[in-house]
Amino acid sequence: MSSRQLFVTTALPYANGHFHIGHIMEYIQADIWVRAQRMLGHDVYFVGADDAHGAPIMIAAEKAGKTPQQFVADISAGRQQYLDGFHIAFDNWHSTDGPENHALAKEIFLELKAQGLISTKTIEQFFDPEKSMFLPDRFIKGECPKCAAQDQYGDSCEQCGAVYGPTELKNPRSALSGATPVLKTSEHYFFKLSDPKCLSFLQNWTQDGKLQSEVANKVREWLTPNEQGLSGLGDWDISRDAPYFGIEIPDAPGKYFYVWLDAPIGYLASLKNYFDKGGPRSRGDARSFEQYMKDEKVEQYHFIGKDITYFHTLFWPATLHFSHRKTPTNVFVHGFITVSGEKMSKSRGTGIDPLKYLSLGMNPEWMRYYIAAKLNAKVEDIDFNPEDFVARVNADLIGKFINIASRSAGFISKRFEHKMGTLSEEGLALVQHLQQSAPHIAQGFEQREFGKVLRDIMLLADRVNSYVDTHKPWELAKKAEQAAQLHQVCSACIESFRLLSLLLKPVLPELVQEVERFLKISPLAFSSAQTLLGQGHEIGVYRHLMQRVDPHLMDALFEPSPSVNTEHDDAAPPPSAGPGGTPIEGVIGMEDFSKVDLRIALITACESVTGSTKLLRLSLDVGEDQPRQVFSGIAAHYKPEDLVGKLTVMVANLAPRKMKFGVSEGMVLAASHENEKEHPGVFVLSPWPGARPGMRIR
Ligand code: MSP
Ligand code: ZN
Repeated sequence: MSSRQLFVTTALPYANGHFHIGHIMEYIQADIWVRAQRMLGHDVYFVGADDAHGAPIMIAAEKAGKTPQQFVADISAGRQQYLDGFHIAFDNWHSTDGPENHALAKEIFLELKAQGLISTKTIEQFFDPEKSMFLPDRFIKGECPKCAAQDQYGDSCEQCGAVYGPTELKNPRSALSGATPVLKTSEHYFFKLSDPKCLSFLQNWTQDGKLQSEVANKVREWLTPNEQGLSGLGDWDISRDAPYFGIEIPDAPGKYFYVWLDAPIGYLASLKNYFDKGGPRSRGDARSFEQYMKDEKVEQYHFIGKDITYFHTLFWPATLHFSHRKTPTNVFVHGFITVSGEKMSKSRGTGIDPLKYLSLGMNPEWMRYYIAAKLNAKVEDIDFNPEDFVARVNADLIGKFINIASRSAGFISKRFEHKMGTLSEEGLALVQHLQQSAPHIAQGFEQREFGKVLRDIMLLADRVNSYVDTHKPWELAKKAEQAAQLHQVCSACIESFRLLSLLLKPVLPELVQEVERFLKISPLAFSSAQTLLGQGHEIGVYRHLMQRVDPHLMDALFEPSPSVNTEHDDAAPPPSAGPGGTPIEGVIGMEDFSKVDLRIALITACESVTGSTKLLRLSLDVGEDQPRQVFSGIAAHYKPEDLVGKLTVMVANLAPRKMKFGVSEGMVLAASHENEKEHPGVFVLSPWPGARPGMRIR
């Protein structure tokens, strides 16, 4: 089999926020595919980058008091911990604001222009007179022209679903300044996608059978002429006026490329950056980036989510084709991940914060396995369900897979000096069946049918387990005269375990590396399925390879974040801010206040709470016989040792509250701003010197 050359990307995430579980899911999907290709002996360059440009990022940077460059750099600095954390093996990570992308975008634009595919047109758009800028649709709000719902965006109504242009909104206002926008004209650049040569190219490129069938159908709808006989594809507006964070259009002062023009070019820019840094050279590829991209044999694949299909199946291939470049071999579209059936909100994220997942010490390979088990080659949404997660990982990975090694490795070591023995006829048949399954599994990975692949692998594991259950090594081990049989059975188990590890390796790369160390073998590839460890091979000492998922971890994962006040959507402006970010409460009388019994408390002990990133467990002396146990959500702000021995203030007559980790018998007082994101910090109260435990505060 000759080796293939693959250039693989994932969508470039906007650099205005950290990765959420949707990004991680996409990376896991692509990473598994890439690893499987590498295990088949193919050469893969796998790259990503931050999508740095566009008005929303410019505006977010301004809000944060940073230059867009600094803002994007700060987000970028946080990427690696997620990628490393989930074992995502990109060869390179770059930015669409890098010099390579500036150069490539301009070059490509000029090539399109030379093809006669760029035109200009004067258009009328909403302009914010206070901010002196044209407003993107999403930054114009007003009343829906169809249903009169208030506070709707300039492109569509969230109440009735109507789609319209921003100028149709009633009582429009700028979401940036609140000002009433005015209409202003400006010259824009267009990519003439309605040109017959573009249409015929796209007709062919999208309908030749490479795309997933749902995708091809959707694209056919987009390309179908409407009632007026016009193509479904209009010309594409690719320019924006200053101020804009983006790439300047050559010979067009004050005009910038719309972010979606240069974003996919960022795929090429990241690869070029990898070439220029010598990545391929160090892997024995002496070609330049240009030579590589000109090579007919190089295949190009993009993993993306369904929301950006339009850009990747129409604009992007046309951009490449008419600038005389390689067009994508395919675009692999996935659905969205929901968490417990809930869609993620851009502002609130979801129930799962990938970093929190990692910081709780949860195994990233549990997540890789679970997501893979849910994925197929279709554009279907998948759901993360906590109970299902625990059950699936524990039943499959621990119950079916790891157990094969844990039930047999010890005997090989203790009874047979770590050496593998011969196989019985039955054992050999079992092992050969696994060997013969490898090509089929490899094909499943290639076709991105990961759920099916994992079900098939678990069926193989079932066979091995039923072999173990029939031969009961733990019984055989009891009688010395059965030693030879014990050796045979355990050898078949270890051979099977090696083969199952091989098949699972694209999904569980770290774990399988551990297995390779334990078995004292070189890295497993699909071709390794043809061989066996064989009689006399010495294995290492088995150490437990993976923990079960403790269901309590799920509670910790879904516990609200440490922020004391997380109730309101952080995209919405604070209701009506008062001092400290919240209005002063309504008036109460002395009799109301005196119902709250506040006491001076001495913190006699304090410790962190296993399974919670938020809580500390405090022991408080308020002058009673017994100390009080109080849980306080201050773990992100105080180290236990810094609190012990200090005096503070507690609510001593609050009804005891049963929490997951025990009963909380009161509450410690602390100050924080309503908007903790912008005004961070939680400050525990402490009395002036001289106060003694138990004194009342009135
Ligand atoms: N910047 C553009 C892509 C430019 S590609 C040249 C963008 N960025 S994004 O950050 O909004 O999305 C990045 C990827 O994450 C997209 O493929 C998108 O579909 C995917 N996902 C975003 N939310 C998702 C889920 N809830 N589930 C799965 N993938 C999701 O779009
Ligand atoms: Zn409406």
